[in-house]
Amino acid sequence: MRIGNAASPEELFELMLEATHEAVGYDSASLMTVDAAGDALIVRAARGSRLEGTRVPVGPSISWQALERRAPIVIEGPAAPSLGTTYTKDVPFALCLPLVVGAKTLGVINVNRGGHPGDDAVAFLRILADQAGFAMERMELYGDLQHFTGQLLSQEEEHRRRLARDLHDGLAPILVSAHAQLQSAAVDSEPVQKATALLRRAIRETREILGTVRPATLDDLGLVAALSAAARDMADEAGWTLEEAVDDPGPLSREAESTLYRVAVEALNNVKKHAAAHEVRLALLKTEDTLEIDVADDGHGFATEQWGEAGIRPGHFGLLGMRERLAFLGGLLKVQSKPGEGTTIRIVVPRDRLR
Ligand SMILES: Nc1ncnc2c1ncn2[C@@H]1O[C@H](COP(=O)(O)OP(=O)(O)OP(=O)(O)O)[C@@H](O)[C@H]1O
Ligand SMILES: [Mg+2]
Repeated sequence: MRIGNAASPEELFELMLEATHEAVGYDSASLMTVDAAGDALIVRAARGSRLEGTRVPVGPSISWQALERRAPIVIEGPAAPSLGTTYTKDVPFALCLPLVVGAKTLGVINVNRGGHPGDDAVAFLRILADQAGFAMERMELYGDLQHFTGQLLSQEEEHRRRLARDLHDGLAPILVSAHAQLQSAAVDSEPVQKATALLRRAIRETREILGTVRPATLDDLGLVAALSAAARDMADEAGWTLEEAVDDPGPLSREAESTLYRVAVEALNNVKKHAAAHEVRLALLKTEDTLEIDVADDGHGFATEQWGEAGIRPGHFGLLGMRERLAFLGGLLKVQSKPGEGTTIRIVVPRDRLR
């Protein structure tokens, strides 16, 4: 049944009203769902009236009564006092069908027409309503799953932030002051020199980890300044000339900001590790639909085609991880490289996924 194929709740509700029309025909109809708090019914789709968005708080309305009874209510002719609701006008035929799945009541379908459509049609509509209930339930579960995945991602983000803070405020200052102590001890023995050199390396590695995890600068300064600072640090260390052409990316969500930062820093790390470059260009460009970050170097380059379509080298995870991270933002990574001709890594993300 088509109802099972709806891609979104909105589409599902429209399909249900369409199917209802095929089943019983109507002058007007609406579909309402119980809102998240469970204290109101909201009209999600309507035909023959402009009720969409209307809220019906919990109360004596027919819709709420049908939900509470978990059974359809038919109204014909003059208002029935047994329903406890006073009608100001007569109703030729109205049917209120609750959407029920297991113990849950999800909403109602309301139908108004000129007369009774016949018991068979009503029976058919009830079967339809059951199917619709299942489809809604499934969609809700799917929505929960997506929400859950999103939460997991932001939990990971939160862990990274905490780790970054610990490294930055806890470990890094200890290493730096140990290094300073050793230097000021003015003992010129070989073991002390070795220890000093090791500490220097530990400091550098801590900085690198901080750079890939989430630097405080990303929160304080935003993507452009943080990225630029990371690139300058690396340029100083590796001795590149750095050229920057960076547009303002506009407002970014936390996720988008840290994804872009991490992927770009990973590209810069690769330049440092593999390229032996003289010049590196970092560009951030806003097009109508996309945000692009280019990291281009004039170093060794590499033969991308030897690793197949995706240009991923087995056993090496940098480029793979970059692609995976970008996929969460609907983005992609383009690698352009040739031995001896340098490398350009282009990060492309649709702008509507950045906020
Ligand atoms: N800018 C670059 N210049 C030259 N070669 C590069 C550059 N970027 C990537 N490569 C090549 O692509 C390979 C794959 O890169 P990738 O980042 O996936 O792995 P890695 O850097 O080797 O290891 P990992 O990132 O997992 O520590 C590298 O081993 C290197 O040969
Ligand atoms: Mg790498």
